[in-house]
Amino acid sequence: MGESLSKNEAEERIQKLREKIFYHEKKYYVDNNPQISDYEFDLLIKELETLEKRFPELITPSSPTQRVGEQPIEGFRSVVHNTPMLSLDNCYSVEELFEFEERIKKLLPDQKIEYVAELKIDGLSISIIYKEGSYHQAVTRGDGVKGDDVTANVKTIRSIPLSVPAQKNIEVRGEVFLPFKSFKKINRERADQGEGLFANPRNAAAGSIRLLDPRLVAARNLDVFLYSLQIEGNESDSQWRNLQMLKEWGFKTNPQSCFCNNLDEAVFFWKKWSEKRDDLDYDVDGVVIKVNSVAQQKILGSTSKFPRWAISFKFPARQATTRIMDIRIQVGRTGALTPVAVLEPVKLSGTTISRSTLHNEDEIKRKDIRIFDHVLIERSGDVIPKVVAVMKKRRTGEEKKFIFPSRCPVCGSETFKPEGEAVSRCTNPSCPAKLRESILHFASRRAMNIEGLGEALVDQLLDIKMVKSIPDLFSLTKNELENLERMGAKSAQNLLDEIEGAKTREFYRLIFALGIRYVGERTAEILASSFQNIDALSQAGIEELTQIPDIGPKVAESVVFFFKQPENKALINCLKKAGLNLKTSTEEKRIAKIFAGKTFVLTGRLESLTRDEAGDLIKKGGGTVSSSVSGNTSYVIAGASPGSKLRKAQSLGITVLNEKDFFDLMEKSSVAGDEEEGS
Ligand code: IVH
Repeated sequence: MGESLSKNEAEERIQKLREKIFYHEKKYYVDNNPQISDYEFDLLIKELETLEKRFPELITPSSPTQRVGEQPIEGFRSVVHNTPMLSLDNCYSVEELFEFEERIKKLLPDQKIEYVAELKIDGLSISIIYKEGSYHQAVTRGDGVKGDDVTANVKTIRSIPLSVPAQKNIEVRGEVFLPFKSFKKINRERADQGEGLFANPRNAAAGSIRLLDPRLVAARNLDVFLYSLQIEGNESDSQWRNLQMLKEWGFKTNPQSCFCNNLDEAVFFWKKWSEKRDDLDYDVDGVVIKVNSVAQQKILGSTSKFPRWAISFKFPARQATTRIMDIRIQVGRTGALTPVAVLEPVKLSGTTISRSTLHNEDEIKRKDIRIFDHVLIERSGDVIPKVVAVMKKRRTGEEKKFIFPSRCPVCGSETFKPEGEAVSRCTNPSCPAKLRESILHFASRRAMNIEGLGEALVDQLLDIKMVKSIPDLFSLTKNELENLERMGAKSAQNLLDEIEGAKTREFYRLIFALGIRYVGERTAEILASSFQNIDALSQAGIEELTQIPDIGPKVAESVVFFFKQPENKALINCLKKAGLNLKTSTEEKRIAKIFAGKTFVLTGRLESLTRDEAGDLIKKGGGTVSSSVSGNTSYVIAGASPGSKLRKAQSLGITVLNEKDFFDLMEKSSVAGDEEEGS
């Protein structure tokens, strides 16, 4: 039993796995076009890890398992760049941009000049060296001449290839950045933990790349766009060609980059993106316009600070100074008390800003923010504006320290701040503020999507007590609604139709709409695919929940806590009576995992996995591990020196697998899953 691979077979399989993994990493992280589920991807990694553990001599530094180093380092070594990493000259108007072209034309008389326009990513620049095609070293820009060796940290960025097809020495340069989504997540976690917040994604990216432990860096979800390529002993002919080469070799390049026949086309590109930059999921602060021809770039050369062949045409600033006129407390859906600064209205890249979140009590203390302070605020993308700095020099003595309330400002109940957390919460389960926010969340687009049920209407319904709980929404009548402010017969009917429509939304949306702490959309989907209906979900215990892949103890505890509360039990009963869809559809079941409903028993010593590891794989796949063989057992996995369990399995006619069969089964099941998804 326990059939094991020979070293040659293992080597072959390892090779195949690495190719597959690199292929899928590129599809996912570079092309934004995943071909398999995260789960199937994890299985490939796990199998490779297992084989490499058994044959450590086959591990190479560019194996996909080697992205994240095990040990924190003590500090960063300083490394001198092959060629200095210059910065860019800036301009802020079309006139200035044409002056840049005038300067160029003097040095290139009568030549046609073509350009490449690229978004200027607001991150930090990095140089990465590949030796004979393999990832070798990554260095920050530093002072331009020398930077910090961040090889281990940059290696954790999954969109960076660990090898390139050409077996050459190359240097690529680009911008490491943090997508807004990851930035918000990091700050949310830091706010929860009472840690200082990053003012913007750039600072967060810079802070992340300088962490000493690559395992922490890996969790930050940094990303990178490459824009420069140098091949040793090879002259490239143009920037546009370089971008194509980078792409062909598997590097992530910015998809918006644009070839321009002349400067007018570059201006057009700048105008377009100065209006659309909020649509991007990363921060950009301008457009870099580069002379395309490398021959022309050479003639133009550089000053000591920047190249004469490129310029950055900045977008309007997203920072402004203003004054804090008041600090108010908002109470959220979970009862969290969030301080909000009321600002003297100020224009910031096209929008008027009059509020800014101050996150929590600690953040106010840390920055020593006072009412009437002059402050620098910053907005990036769709992120809520933040106070970046207090201008203490402008203080007159009139400023007032803010005293954080010890009671809920809406209902007057006591607040509670758990040990180690930074956020105080209102303890009253029926606090009107919680109800208001819960209804708004319930009706929101990604939850039950009840169009027309916005803030103003919810406030009215609550004020006149027409709605005292979420289920009350489902017994509203046309008569009642018609009499509300700004509501006619037609809009009343539209709203009723919308509310009716909410009854047939998918089950996962309802789970999300309930507003259970830590249950976002994705977790709601997992829960919906793991439980048939609301009763099964509400009766699940911590153990059952944590058996589900991707559900950790924090989520499990929160789910159990939610369904234990009498008011939530009552809520579910009312939603049932109102006729909402509270069960999983076949569509939702489809994403259930490959071992769902299957029970495994392990016996004997396995070659390449410990029993725990095998158990993890089974649980990740949605299966259950049992300690004894019975009629309910689906498979017995038998290793060396199996016990009586094997005999029992044989006598009951239960399928017995060796290790290799088990891996085959995983592979087959996930392929079958693929086909199902395609059909
Ligand atoms: S080219 C010699 N292209 O902007 C040319 N830079 O202010 C050097 N940046 O240090 C840079 N996006 O960190 C270039 N598409 C882009 C860029 C870009 C962002 C950053 C880079 C550089 C800084 C210069």
